[in-house]
Amino acid sequence: MTLLVKGGRVVNPAVNQDEVCDILIENGKIKTIGKNLPADGAEVYDASGLVVAPGFIDMHVHLRQPGQSAKETVVTGTQAAAAGGITRVATMPNTNPVIDKAILVEGMKYKAEHEGVVKVEVIGAISKGLEGKELSAMGGMAKAGVVAFSDDGRFVEDSDFMRKAMEYASMFHKIVIDHCEETSLVSGGQMHEGIVSAELGLKGRPAAAEDIAVARDIILSEITDTPVHIAHISTKHAVDMVRRAKAKGLKITAEATPQHMILTDEALRTYDPRFKVNPPLRSEEHRAAVVEGLKDGTIDAIVTDHAPHTWDEKDQEFSLAPSGFVGLETSVGAVLTHLYHTGTVDLMTIVRAMSTAPAGLLGLDAGVIVEGKDADLTIIDLDKEWTVDASSFYSKGKSSPFDEMIFTGKAVATVVDGEFVMKDGVVLK
Ligand code: DOR
Repeated sequence: MTLLVKGGRVVNPAVNQDEVCDILIENGKIKTIGKNLPADGAEVYDASGLVVAPGFIDMHVHLRQPGQSAKETVVTGTQAAAAGGITRVATMPNTNPVIDKAILVEGMKYKAEHEGVVKVEVIGAISKGLEGKELSAMGGMAKAGVVAFSDDGRFVEDSDFMRKAMEYASMFHKIVIDHCEETSLVSGGQMHEGIVSAELGLKGRPAAAEDIAVARDIILSEITDTPVHIAHISTKHAVDMVRRAKAKGLKITAEATPQHMILTDEALRTYDPRFKVNPPLRSEEHRAAVVEGLKDGTIDAIVTDHAPHTWDEKDQEFSLAPSGFVGLETSVGAVLTHLYHTGTVDLMTIVRAMSTAPAGLLGLDAGVIVEGKDADLTIIDLDKEWTVDASSFYSKGKSSPFDEMIFTGKAVATVVDGEFVMKDGVVLK
């Protein structure tokens, strides 16, 4: 099959390209990039007025399989990804059972290959059962093709254990992704510790918990010479520490979510569990510092931390509801509306953080529009106005902090291996 994506504005950070041109795709690969390419019988997609970006990659997603298919499945999660313009996701191992050995990685990869609408990478656990005590079967999982190791959802508390985990991970050339909230400080905490938590009478999760965890991980990364990636960074000191670590040449990278760059703890004043997440939505000074980190390159990747829960689980009083919410179908719109259209972050930086950078962090041959590479593309209408309707999400998770918001900018087509998996909001698989 041949496809000609015609007249789009190609924004391609890997080669610093931002120009109108055509992309000819043959047998799932990019064949030619150029001006006024002849159709020669190819299906033509008119991309004039649209942005054509290398396929977006979300390196922090919970597909909830195995074991939690009431919350999400490979099918519904990857449909949600396609709907949101995401061509590839990396799924976290806090499943049931925990993905902590090769056979489970193989199972997930098999399932993803057969049922996935977009591409799926698997992240293996750092510790057996996420218990932070015994190392998972890292070697076997590396052989089975995991892209990283993480106990996401939980901080790896024991520093000596984490040091060993880093040493092992680096033997297999995989990054370690840590959920940085020091456990004792956040125990029983429901939201960011600050004026709002005090006024609401809810126990807080202090920014200091994240700061201590990030400081420890930077130090351990330095002594083990292991690449460490800070998951969903959310505090000003953490951003600053990562900035200084990078300036020193340490192997530290970081990701941030739309929610931590757009929303604050003020949203929790209604005690609405839709806004409950870990790390929590923080105060304005932290939010602004995270955005600053994205602008100056301290933060490498934008991720959703797509964390679906069933409606019954989420629809409880605030203190009982689980943390986390979905994000795959809103990330492009949220980022374009609140970071791009406000003139805060330029388009090249956004595309880099949503495609080229995560590909590099996970060691994937992706995130670029280059002849000969897989034809994974995210096609965006920067000016499309739309209203978020969580009830119509492809995801099983219907709880979104962005529900009912009006966004400007949307992915209007998602191409995976040269085939449309989403067109005009409709998922085609
Ligand atoms: O709020 C969260 N929920 N944060 C995490 O890191 C994990 C996630 C989940 O798995 O539900």
